Amino acid sequence: MLKNLKHGLTGALAILLPLSTVPAAAPMPVAAAHGMVVSANHLASKAGVDVLKAGGNAIDAAVAVGYALAVTFPEAGNLGGGGFMTIRFADGRTTFIDFREMAPGAASPTMYQDKAGNVIPGLSTRGYLAAGIPGSVAGLEYVRAKYGIKSRAMLMSPAIHLARDGFVLDQGDADMLGLGADDFRKDIPSASIFLNHGEVRKAGTRLIQADLGKALQEISTKGADAFYRGNIAREMVAASRAHGGIMTMADFARYKVREMAPITCDYRGYHIISAPPPSSGGVVLCETLNIVEGYPMAKLGWHSAQGMHDLIEALRRAFHDRNISLGDPDFIKMDTEKLVSKDYAAQLRRSIVPDKATLSSSLGSVTNGPEGQNTTHFSIVDKWGNAVSLTYTLNDWFGARVTPAGTGILLNDEMDDFTAKPGVPNMFGLVEGPNNAIGAGKRPLSSMTPTIITRDNKLVMVVGTPGGSHIPTAVLQVVMNVIDYGMQLQQAVNAPRIHEQWLPDVTYYEPFALSADTMAALEARGQNLAPQGYHNQIAAILVGAPELGGPPLGDNKLYGAIDPRLNLGDAEGY
Ligand code: GLY
Repeated sequence: MLKNLKHGLTGALAILLPLSTVPAAAPMPVAAAHGMVVSANHLASKAGVDVLKAGGNAIDAAVAVGYALAVTFPEAGNLGGGGFMTIRFADGRTTFIDFREMAPGAASPTMYQDKAGNVIPGLSTRGYLAAGIPGSVAGLEYVRAKYGIKSRAMLMSPAIHLARDGFVLDQGDADMLGLGADDFRKDIPSASIFLNHGEVRKAGTRLIQADLGKALQEISTKGADAFYRGNIAREMVAASRAHGGIMTMADFARYKVREMAPITCDYRGYHIISAPPPSSGGVVLCETLNIVEGYPMAKLGWHSAQGMHDLIEALRRAFHDRNISLGDPDFIKMDTEKLVSKDYAAQLRRSIVPDKATLSSSLGSVTNGPEGQNTTHFSIVDKWGNAVSLTYTLNDWFGARVTPAGTGILLNDEMDDFTAKPGVPNMFGLVEGPNNAIGAGKRPLSSMTPTIITRDNKLVMVVGTPGGSHIPTAVLQVVMNVIDYGMQLQQAVNAPRIHEQWLPDVTYYEPFALSADTMAALEARGQNLAPQGYHNQIAAILVGAPELGGPPLGDNKLYGAIDPRLNLGDAEGY
């Protein structure tokens, strides 16, 4: 009864519902007793669950899912890109794996500018010059060898079969392939794989990727060296040379995975474990949470005008710090400890006026740019309680939209995540300073936010999403929906969201995120608002019950939810 009263149900309705029912305006998350995988493709989720059922741990399952998505989700799943993995082991240890792309040795701060110093449109987003040296194979192989318990051959086998035998495209797959069609037509190897005689592939047809199957088999047999020192690297370097790129064999041989400590912070009794630089994700998430912790968000109510104002102001400040201060820790000095400290949050909170928006220009210069969507995230928990939160990417959907002949591997356009010129926005409209300037061997600043949450040293949640600069804001709002507003997981994932990133000086809102009178109240405070489409696909797991502190469904302890904003992917458990 208390539970139902908490949700504001009338007494009459409460009588109609069994006490174990968790009321929510969304379907229940997928429930399972032992293991859970949530990813952007159902065949990849199944590959991960099969590994868990066969006795593999969450790290094994992540390797299988990572390779499978490279086949079944070519939009962002990849061998030709890079990413980050936050891991929490069942015994409470945590670690962070950085397999982000590195700039080739011949890269320079002005490589995307003309002689007059103007940024040349498209040079950092399409074609071979846009690509960094990929890290995904090195990253997946690093964690498998160090933390996995199953063989490479077993973990790569589903991906090899899916590439060689093909898989049947769903409507969502076909629609996504259509997004890349114009660029695929300009690149013969891409067109021969992703188009059907020049036309967009249709739902219900089979996509076979023979070259990718061959590359995967070579990696399975010979290990990461096949990718970084063998045939695959040679084919990539040859294609890069032939098409104006600057990749060399030495660049591939030099590629290194970094293992480091995650960024951590505490929010209303929960412990947040997330991505440190070269991702900005954990810093933006923690800095914003620390600021809003000082406001009574639950009491103000979900998307109240005052709560939205406080959140927008917090994000404005966190993104300002992100864009000015952060970059690759091997190249620049950053005080991340200060940025995620409670004292600094209190200082920033003192600068927030409750009824007046801060002009973004008062924190720095103003400019504008297009918005984008990309990347993919998957979340995994195994029967022991090991958890993996992994986000990897080609940057834009299908990356640079070029496939070196013979490899079947789409290359990333991650170089666009560097600052092509300080003050000029990248494809996400992010305006950054010199700390994120291009440098040989440097890794571009990211927004990816693979996150794990605990309480009293027990696993609570695994969460992440694609979406470029919209990644930390989406993760943040799902976390707040669960912790502050007590939403059931699927409801927390589905609920409409806003996005604010300092520059441009506009807060974007998804359909139905803000009522007319909330918008009027925010505009009266000086907030600039604009509608936006969907940018994210949250993949989340909650441990214990469909909502924090709620009753479990039967014997199930894991609850998985995939964001419906992309018509793809699922949560699968056993
Ligand atoms: N490429 C998007 C990101 O790393 O944030």
